[in-house]
Amino acid sequence: MALARKRILIIIGGGIAAYKTLELIRRLREAEAEVRVVMTEAAKQFVTELSVASLSGGKVFADLFSLTDETEIGHIQLSRDADLLVVAPATADLLAKMAHGLANDLASTLLLATNKKILVAPAMNVRMWLNPATQRNVATLQKDGVLFVGPDDGDMACGEYGPGRMSEPAALLIAIEAALRHDTAIPLPVSPHVGAVDLSGMRVIVTSGPTHEPIDPVRYIANRSSGKQGHALAVAAAAAGAKVVLISGPVVLPDPKGIETRHVQTAAEMLAAVEAALPADIFISAAAVADWRVAEIAEEKIKKGVETTAVLKLAQNPDILHTVAEHKTARPRLVVGFAAETSEMLDRAQAKLARKHCDIIIANDVGAGSDVMGGDENQVTIVSEDKIQALPRMNKDEVARQLIARFAELLQTKSGRGSHG
Ligand SMILES: Cc1cc2nc3c(=O)[nH]c(=O)nc-3n(C[C@H](O)[C@H](O)[C@H](O)COP(=O)(O)O)c2cc1C
Repeated sequence: MALARKRILIIIGGGIAAYKTLELIRRLREAEAEVRVVMTEAAKQFVTELSVASLSGGKVFADLFSLTDETEIGHIQLSRDADLLVVAPATADLLAKMAHGLANDLASTLLLATNKKILVAPAMNVRMWLNPATQRNVATLQKDGVLFVGPDDGDMACGEYGPGRMSEPAALLIAIEAALRHDTAIPLPVSPHVGAVDLSGMRVIVTSGPTHEPIDPVRYIANRSSGKQGHALAVAAAAAGAKVVLISGPVVLPDPKGIETRHVQTAAEMLAAVEAALPADIFISAAAVADWRVAEIAEEKIKKGVETTAVLKLAQNPDILHTVAEHKTARPRLVVGFAAETSEMLDRAQAKLARKHCDIIIANDVGAGSDVMGGDENQVTIVSEDKIQALPRMNKDEVARQLIARFAELLQTKSGRGSHG
């Protein structure tokens, strides 16, 4: 298990989201991580030392000037004796202290004294988060190599809506694993207002749904993809002003209003439709394309014989993502693939990224119980060459909006704004 015996020092700041950190601690211990916890004075107003100590299975550190702590384990030692420091929730105050190098309590002193990676999970009121002072501090910390997970958009405890919610424990766990395994930055949406995403003048091709590979005139091989995520991506890209071509396998969803939708059945037809739709600025391969087709499609319905087993010979389908990513004359500036995995999700997503030569892989766990294929929610991780960003589990429409915002941001940083051709 990736977290077993990893030493995680959790710093709990004084925010409402501190209760979620209790669940994080429980899950880390379940994954056999060694957890030590530091609480700020303010944090004690939100969760009790007793709950934290019970869940973490050890003493909670809170006082910089405690003689016992200093003789048992000094504050410098505490900051070094970990594989990773995780600040959750990271208050506006803690982020400010970190950005300015203040060290006036145990938490901030440890953060300044450490030589280990720091992952922060901000949580605060939307106005506090969007305040230029906080955004300046965030930018400074990102430049300093501090890793971020979240914050997410959503309803806040204070009754407002927007970015500022701490990421859910499941997303934090993924970010912690990623931070431990890779020396990567986990960027947060610095421009969290998806409404501000502008893809006008850009052309986006999205594939969606399954493919059906015929066996005979009445039977086919398929998968459980519903097309919900792909269609939502097409809608989100169009809402951001892009000219979208949606190439859909057989789904029960209606064609999204105002989006040019082309219908295909097989992987071969999907590839042909994609090639016909090029060029584009962004290609999003969200379809669950069948890897295999039946080598020889029977012209007549195959009859049940005396044999109790039957053998289907399969042939490999064309690789649409790889074909587009390697296109000699019309490679889109951003090529995005999906990796639906049932195990070792991040490793496989990174291998796919390299193998297919695409820019981003959106990894999602479609294992038993995930309820992703066909369901209304998705939990995705954005994997690019040097970054991994786990988004929380959310409605597929919201996942689509956040992904499109991220793609727009990436396009801008990649080569400056502009359209294809
Ligand atoms: C009810 C209540 C909720 C608060 N929630 C947050 C919060 O979610 N995020 C935040 O940055 N500050 C929040 N604050 C303000 C912090 O508790 C305050 O800035 C404190 O000094 C932070 O201390 P710390 O950074 O040492 O933990 C809240 C304050 C109150 C009274």
